[in-house]
Amino acid sequence: MKAALYDRHGAAADVLRVADIDRPEPGPGQVRVRIELSGVNPTDWKSRGGTTPRPIDGFQIPHHDGVGVIDAAGAGVDTGRVGQRVWLWMAAGGSKWGTAAEWSVVPARQAVPLPESASAELGAALGVPAMTAHRALFADGPVNGKNVLVAGGAGAVGHFAIELAKFYGARVAATVSGPRKAELAAQAGADLVVNYRDADAADQIKALAPRMDRIVELALGANLDLDLALSGPQTHIVDYAAEASDPVLPVRKCMNANVTLRFILLYGVPAEALDQAAADITRAVEAHALTALPVIRFPLDQIAAAHEAVEAGAVGKVLVVP
Ligand SMILES: NC(=O)c1ccc[n+]([C@@H]2O[C@H](COP(=O)([O-])OP(=O)(O)OC[C@H]3O[C@@H](n4cnc5c(N)ncnc54)[C@H](OP(=O)(O)O)[C@@H]3O)[C@@H](O)[C@H]2O)c1
Repeated sequence: MKAALYDRHGAAADVLRVADIDRPEPGPGQVRVRIELSGVNPTDWKSRGGTTPRPIDGFQIPHHDGVGVIDAAGAGVDTGRVGQRVWLWMAAGGSKWGTAAEWSVVPARQAVPLPESASAELGAALGVPAMTAHRALFADGPVNGKNVLVAGGAGAVGHFAIELAKFYGARVAATVSGPRKAELAAQAGADLVVNYRDADAADQIKALAPRMDRIVELALGANLDLDLALSGPQTHIVDYAAEASDPVLPVRKCMNANVTLRFILLYGVPAEALDQAAADITRAVEAHALTALPVIRFPLDQIAAAHEAVEAGAVGKVLVVP
């Protein structure tokens, strides 16, 4: 099969190449999936580039996310699943068989039936972003009737955080840096969209609700003053991204707010929470509550350009066509 792969960490153009390799066979408990589209996330270039290196077992086919059709089932897997159209999550988690190839193999539970009405573009974008958004929203309980602030509401995670929060009954404010991203966050269904660079951003958000219950955060240091202005004893600030340098925590201000801080990294989220996320996300897809961001497509042989686009902060979702 044709696969994009690397065998050492480094810059995209230096280490990524397309090769013909043997198609994998599904092991016990696994399914093999013929990949239609592969989704690229920041974690993919960080793993490849060595910012957050993950061990390489001979070679690594990148990308956790994808959409495709099951064409073989390993021992112990219901053969009735062959032919199912599925979305994949964490395909490259501890495995060399990422989705940037014509086929991938994953544990059967990580190939989730995709509702018929869903586009391939949506299916390939769900994995890392929607699972992360789900964990950020629900690790501390349901959000029905709650007030949620989503920082970076036009980003891949932010987009699904808005849509999942709305679907599960929350009131949602989102922050962005400009008009194009404001439009995307509004299209996702945010009740209020605010430019986080505005000096009165906190006051604008307080018009929706004076205190947030959840703040889905990706730039804790940059946004902590804003977040604390909207925090009280009921607030959980959930941070899912590291900034270039770690913030200094204003402990007294955090104490005054009685706020709770939570950090999440998808690679270590408990299995039952991931399974619940996959089920809740699929239910939202079925209900047409999740949408695809604008798509930027690359053929497999332009894999390095696809990674560079994500590294450069492309607006929308970068997908690779194997
Ligand atoms: N912990 C985990 O398991 C996990 C899972 C998924 C992703 N991540 C990390 O989360 C980050 C985002 O991932 P993504 O796929 O959503 O990326 P993305 O699609 O590139 O979105 C990032 C968004 O954040 C916005 N942003 C940047 N600085 C901001 C600030 N100070 N306040 C508010 N918004 C800001 C960006 O827009 P502007 O720059 O225009 O504001 C952009 O819209 C990456 O660093 C990724 O590695 C972590």
